[in-house]
Amino acid sequence: MKFSKFGQKFTQPTGISQLMDDLGDALKSDQSVNMLGGGNPARIDAVNKLFLQTYQALGNDGIVDESSSDSANSTAINSMSNYSNPQGDADFIDALVGFFNRHYDWNLTAENIALTNGSQNAFFYLFNLFGGAFIDEQNQSVDKSILLPLAPEYIGYSDVHVDGQHFAAVLPHIDEVSHDGEEGFFKYRVDFEALEQLPALVEGRIGAICCSRPTNPTGNVLTDEEMAHLAEIAKRYDIPLIIDNAYGMPFPNIIYSDAHLNWDNNTILCFSLSKIGLPGMRTGIVVADAKVIEAVSAMNAVVNLAPTRFGAAIATPLVENDRIKQLSDDVIKPFYQQQATLAVKLLKEALGDYPLMIHKPEGAIFLWLWFKDLPITTTKLYEILKEKGTLIVPSEYFFPGVDVDNYKHAHECIRMSIAADEQTLIDGIKVIGEVVRELYHER
Ligand SMILES: Cc1ncc(COP(=O)(O)O)c(C=O)c1O
Repeated sequence: MKFSKFGQKFTQPTGISQLMDDLGDALKSDQSVNMLGGGNPARIDAVNKLFLQTYQALGNDGIVDESSSDSANSTAINSMSNYSNPQGDADFIDALVGFFNRHYDWNLTAENIALTNGSQNAFFYLFNLFGGAFIDEQNQSVDKSILLPLAPEYIGYSDVHVDGQHFAAVLPHIDEVSHDGEEGFFKYRVDFEALEQLPALVEGRIGAICCSRPTNPTGNVLTDEEMAHLAEIAKRYDIPLIIDNAYGMPFPNIIYSDAHLNWDNNTILCFSLSKIGLPGMRTGIVVADAKVIEAVSAMNAVVNLAPTRFGAAIATPLVENDRIKQLSDDVIKPFYQQQATLAVKLLKEALGDYPLMIHKPEGAIFLWLWFKDLPITTTKLYEILKEKGTLIVPSEYFFPGVDVDNYKHAHECIRMSIAADEQTLIDGIKVIGEVVRELYHER
């Protein structure tokens, strides 16, 4: 059987398919695996209870006489038995408009929001809308890229273009910083000098700028100044700034540094319900200018008919009464902050005397570890750790748009999830420590 070029592109092994396979296999396996590799959020009791209560209430909501079998008005039945229009569940969109306007000065209307089947689905749309072949005013074809201002970036962006890969990335400044009074940390910062001189930008071959904030894989949070500078460059070149807010504020708000969120018509903000604990609901939220929302809705119609409504049904009451924000501020954020503190402590105990540098934990659900001058690549390290039942993700996949063959740093880091329970963190870090210490001794 032969597949088209499109088919071949999407069926070849990719970083993201390897990651998702490892994650799935680990969850199915009856052997114990120290799962520090996936992007799954933690199971937090208080969070799960609230979702379960809300879910149960949906079944009864609208049923006047519980002894009768007339469930036609139940919110759950309504969500399950009707498509929404391609823009997404209207009640949830209205609730989001109210929520964002209550907490931010954005003056949104329903025309500024569309829903997608997870935010990964939104990035598939957006990166194909703004990256790839364009026809310019002289009727010439121009190939435009998505500019990633701060590599490393999210693994899931790499392969979403329907034809080829269209990324330009800027390597980071690496600053050594302290964290909680301790040394051994670093922070990536945007190299604006290199960015402003990028030929693709200056010559009009960038279709959009995109960054995740907090960043997956590093846990970095671009500063407000960096974001303002990126917004200014995007406006100057008349291209949108896409902010991937999967871990950002106001939900799930896994951010420990001082950061603010802005939106205007030139900004495309992507939210997700996944990292508050509902990844199986596959619900993404795009906040953008009405023209972008129309495009996303049109793509939804072709690809999905309509986005899923179940996540929307569960989240609507929580958005209406701000519980989603309280939950994020009071439970989700402190949970991950504690996990980060514990994982850093364990890593320092295991590898404090070795050349380990940790990216300053500022948010998201990962730590990014840099093993300076490790004698093997971290892709090989990943294989050794996998053999020993510990899963992490090696760094080379996180550099879309970068020639990793000529960038040593891209082979010296790993991403480890901090969403696992305490014992898994202890066991997993113990294995990482043993293997890495031995590798340094063999040098
Ligand atoms: C930075 C970032 N963006 C987007 C996504 C996609 O998430 P979802 O499709 O579950 O909303 C993820 C998932 O891990 C992510 O880490």
